[in-house]
Amino acid sequence: MSTHTVFRLTHRNGFDGLEASNETVPEIDRHELLIKVRSVALNFRDIAIATSQYPFPVKDNVTPCSDAMGEVVEVGSSVPGFEKGDPVVVAFDPTALYGTIDNWDNGHGGPVDGVLKQYLQVSYQGVVKIPKNSSLKDEQWAALVCTGATAWNGLYGNIPLRPGQTVLFQGTGGVSVTGLALAKAAGAKTIITSSSDDKLAYVKSTFGADYTINYKKTPDWAAEAKKLTNGVGVDYILENGGSGTIKQSIEAIKFGGIISVIGFLSQASQEEMPDVAALALSKGCVVRGIIIGSKQQLEEVVRFVGNHDINIPVEKTFGFSKEGVVEALEYMASGSHIGKVCVKVS
Ligand SMILES: NC(=O)c1ccc[n+]([C@@H]2O[C@H](COP(=O)([O-])OP(=O)(O)OC[C@H]3O[C@@H](n4cnc5c(N)ncnc54)[C@H](OP(=O)(O)O)[C@@H]3O)[C@@H](O)[C@H]2O)c1
Repeated sequence: MSTHTVFRLTHRNGFDGLEASNETVPEIDRHELLIKVRSVALNFRDIAIATSQYPFPVKDNVTPCSDAMGEVVEVGSSVPGFEKGDPVVVAFDPTALYGTIDNWDNGHGGPVDGVLKQYLQVSYQGVVKIPKNSSLKDEQWAALVCTGATAWNGLYGNIPLRPGQTVLFQGTGGVSVTGLALAKAAGAKTIITSSSDDKLAYVKSTFGADYTINYKKTPDWAAEAKKLTNGVGVDYILENGGSGTIKQSIEAIKFGGIISVIGFLSQASQEEMPDVAALALSKGCVVRGIIIGSKQQLEEVVRFVGNHDINIPVEKTFGFSKEGVVEALEYMASGSHIGKVCVKVS
């Protein structure tokens, strides 16, 4: 019986809880695929889970991480449409095939074991094929699983973005810069904020951001965004800050615009907690919570990225060892990254 390396969080009080061990390669049933994992993309969620800051249930001794790209190495006897050698990505929640994810019970790397291992056994229904001869690297595909589907959901999950509309992205992390790359390719005008001029310069030159705002130097970034849109406001915002930034997002949004509430990177104090209901009413805008995306949304973003060879922002890739993964998590936690951070598994 062959074995493979599987990472688990033996405790959740810091990254040193991460341990690798040898476990038996799982046997698949007739509806499953066995996937040899090639790349894993990290998310802020993985840091929150490893440090007990994640607000949703997490299983004990969990295998972390949700985003895997790999290659099919075994196909169950009743599985249609897949063959050995197919490059694939696996949906964040393989039970959420379409519509809204209905609960937080099945996301990889939290309530159920995740993908930081060499072989992954999964129902074929949660698996999406990616182009065989793509110019994108393995890690760029892995990076679409959570981040890509989330950004796609923010742009297309409600009233779909149209060419020429303006989208604002908060910060230069994974969701933001991936969303920027998607929106640019779809013909949108883009505004991105950051605490760093260097990061803004990089994002402008590499991903073609139309406008940049340093939210440290320009704390009233909403007023600046309104200026950039001739006082009208922006059509879409991918809201990553949460309660600490939502007030300004509503100030920056156009009447009737859409704010996708994605992240919780900046918390308002209780005294400064904005009255979101009144503010949303004042703009007639949509303030919409996002739960990643369904498998269908992952399929849609994979198709768009594949057809247009969109340069998905992966900044750094680390090795598949305890040291490598801890270094990757620490690098992300430091906030120095731009876009995505990944682990090369094979
Ligand atoms: N709801 C969902 O389904 C879903 C899915 C994916 C992610 N998320 C959440 O979305 C958030 C972003 O995820 P991510 O993976 O992109 O994280 P990330 O890569 O770690 O992004 C971190 C970046 O966010 C920026 N940031 C921090 N505070 C900010 C603020 N007050 N205003 C503007 N930007 C700020 C910083 O950019 P600069 O250094 O440029 O300032 C920071 O480097 C996280 O809270 C994550 O948990 C939610």
